[in-house]
Amino acid sequence: MNVIYIVDFGSQYTQLIARRIRETGVYSEVVPASTSVTKLLNASGIIFSGSPDSVSQESRIDNRILVGKVPVLGICFGFHMLSHHFGGKVGRHDQGGEFGPALVTHNQQSQLFKDIPPSFTAWMSHHDTVHGMGEKIHQIATSVNGLAAALEVPEHRIYAAQFHPEVSHTQGGEQLLRNFVLDICGCQPNWSIADIIQAKQQQLATELGQDHVLLGLSGGVDSSVVAALLDSVIGKHLHAVFIDTGLLRHNEVQQVQQAFSDHFNLELEVIDASKEFFAALRGVTDPEEKRKTVGRLFIQKFEQAALAHSNCTWLAQGTIYPDVIESADPNLSTQSKVIKSHHNVGALPKEMKLKLVEPLRDLFKDEVRRVGEALGLPKALVWRHPFPGPGLAVRVLGEVKQEYVATLRQADAIYLEMLAEAGMMQQTSQAFAVFLPVKTVGVKGDDRVYEHALVLRAIQTDDFMTATAAPLDHQLLHAIATRIINRVPGITRVCYDITSKPPATIEWE
Ligand code: XMP
Repeated sequence: MNVIYIVDFGSQYTQLIARRIRETGVYSEVVPASTSVTKLLNASGIIFSGSPDSVSQESRIDNRILVGKVPVLGICFGFHMLSHHFGGKVGRHDQGGEFGPALVTHNQQSQLFKDIPPSFTAWMSHHDTVHGMGEKIHQIATSVNGLAAALEVPEHRIYAAQFHPEVSHTQGGEQLLRNFVLDICGCQPNWSIADIIQAKQQQLATELGQDHVLLGLSGGVDSSVVAALLDSVIGKHLHAVFIDTGLLRHNEVQQVQQAFSDHFNLELEVIDASKEFFAALRGVTDPEEKRKTVGRLFIQKFEQAALAHSNCTWLAQGTIYPDVIESADPNLSTQSKVIKSHHNVGALPKEMKLKLVEPLRDLFKDEVRRVGEALGLPKALVWRHPFPGPGLAVRVLGEVKQEYVATLRQADAIYLEMLAEAGMMQQTSQAFAVFLPVKTVGVKGDDRVYEHALVLRAIQTDDFMTATAAPLDHQLLHAIATRIINRVPGITRVCYDITSKPPATIEWE
């Protein structure tokens, strides 16, 4: 099978490995450490991820995986596990490990380092190190600090690196992964967007048959791409619904209706449920509780809407891979921690009447966008900034009061309008304002005021798994802050969020 399995031991970079492999044109999937040997041995190659753990005395790897049937690459903790398994000595480094860039030199004899300069800068992040190699192990690279940086066990087709080839700061990291996937594992680079679309269309046709499907449309990229995909397979059996939660941005309902009628030949039902959403959120301050309340109400509304169509037993959602990972979806059951429950994954109610169909569940955002473009959606829709299902509920910190939402909506509209005027929407991946329920002292028209504070956030990212704050021009920020304070009653202070993800997340809640 032309697939690389990435066995997840809890590294923060596991998903990045998956992305990098897909960039080589080969399908890859993150699987939990508990995955059966039979399944693993069906892959063309296996990668063991890093981990915050140290290796234990007992080897955690089943011997059947390491006999050379399928090539294996260990990264960081994976490097320690494989060394340990083959008799190497692993332990704490007496000077505290290696973190950040380190020069690595390889012996120019391993296929793993084909076309990589003999010395290159690699990204390290490890406390433990390999002190002694086992008999069968060949050390093939060393760091500037004299530590083992890579190994191979040629007769078993096993390779491992102490550094992180998946991180863009590692020079030649992409080449190393290509060497492993294409040369050592012999995969064909045929994971193309056209193939993805065709495979998904076939899968949907088989799964859905003559059934009708309700689609929860948000107007964002993901659900629009699902609409296009389902439309191409089941046509009139698709029923699109847009829920006005009262937590939407300025003019969002009209914009979504317009975009939908411009690009789809389908009916869109708009349901105003704003009163119910505000009522359900009254008194709720905990971010996870808010997300679950919103998730539950969405499903109730979809279930009611489905009753209007005969044989409508499915709910289609635009769930994408990062939603699944950050919600630590039990169906994925990797070892990553719950960061936040996305309304469409971790925040779903336990009992649901409709079955879920989520054709984008295994794709990253940039892959979804390419699918959208290939299906003929316009660039303006495909490259729209994302907007989360819980909407302004996760951008009004603490209790979601209607007057706070109204204030935020007004400020957010000014911010986005001014970014667009400055041509900055394309330079940023997502931008929004956040309402802080704290009051701060100011002076307006010679009077003391005691009013709320607001935060502006703009980020740059490809995949929304990691992000950096956009370096917006100071004068532009100044002009935006001034206009917000002049026009939005109740706001006296505007701040710009300069935190990257990690450690912060993109949304504040
Ligand atoms: P975070 O805040 O997790 O956001 O760094 C990553 C991306 O996901 C969006 N997001 C959501 N989208 N339902 C959604 O549809 C949600 O519950 C949700 N939470 C976060 C967020 O806007 C960003 O683009």
